[in-house]
Amino acid sequence: MAQGLKVLTAVLPQDVKLETKPYDLGAKRWHATGETLTDAELEQLKQHDAILLGAIGDPGVPSGVLERGLLLKLRFAFDHYVNLRPSKLFPNTETPLAGRPDIDFVVVREGTEGPYVGNGGSIRTGTPAEVANEVSVNTAYGVERVVRDAYERAQARPRKKLTLVHKNNVLVHAGHLWKNTFDRVGREYPEVTTDYLHVDAATIFLVNDPARFDVIVTDNLFGDIITDLAAAVSGGIGLAASGNINPSGEYPSMFEPVHGSAPDIAGTGKADPTATVLSVALLLRHLGMEAEAVRVEDAVAADLAGRAAARTTDEIGDALAVRVAG
Ligand code: IPM
Ligand code: MN
Repeated sequence: MAQGLKVLTAVLPQDVKLETKPYDLGAKRWHATGETLTDAELEQLKQHDAILLGAIGDPGVPSGVLERGLLLKLRFAFDHYVNLRPSKLFPNTETPLAGRPDIDFVVVREGTEGPYVGNGGSIRTGTPAEVANEVSVNTAYGVERVVRDAYERAQARPRKKLTLVHKNNVLVHAGHLWKNTFDRVGREYPEVTTDYLHVDAATIFLVNDPARFDVIVTDNLFGDIITDLAAAVSGGIGLAASGNINPSGEYPSMFEPVHGSAPDIAGTGKADPTATVLSVALLLRHLGMEAEAVRVEDAVAADLAGRAAARTTDEIGDALAVRVAG
């Protein structure tokens, strides 16, 4: 977070006054107080133009506490229905793929529905006869708005290609709604080439032919899974940035690295801040500062191209701040 703010401060023009307010919402706070995100804090957060969220969590917090109590609470409360996750293979970064394919696509992951809603329950819990249901919620309203957003993004890109990823051969009810909506909305975007892939097949293409993708639209859970795979093939999770966007602007959008908090290296100065810095670029773009966003992305590309010896978190942040300012 410190490196992200360092680069943000360095890239802003003189006449833009940056006001930041830190919120201490992570695992440390939960250990100390048992609280995650209070309603009062949610109200305060609403007043900001944008939110930069650091990687959170440690192994001492039971699974689900911070996920539901903080991260998902923010995504749902602020109606972040577009979870934007770009993948680009920068020069001099490692990919497990042969031949360094030209990877440059963006996943538009739905952010407020699917199984993440928390609908479901279990009966006879903890017995051999337990039945557990996890219900995926898909509404016509929710699907159409994210599909439309994805078409808009595809239309604005040079290749103008949009792929729907789902599993409509098995999840027939939700699959029908997604495919129908995708085809219907698509008639309004005749310039956009469309394509459909089942999610399992999509994982094969992400490894064998990732260059085929331009924009992918998919539901919350499929989007979670394929964006980790997308990160792994395009430089690693340490470079993966994301935006939780509320396109209407009614609520602040939130930008965060896709990765977690890497508690195994906490405090060692080894964590790569690049995903947070790239999330700052998405934040700048969202606020209409395209030139500054590009400067941050170019600085990361140049830094990665010249990266040789291992550097500390601070050194990488300093180098990026110098590049965006210069
Ligand atoms: C992500 C994370 C979250 C998700 C978890 C921490 C709730 O994996 O942002 O991809 O599943 O969305
Ligand atoms: Mn994830």
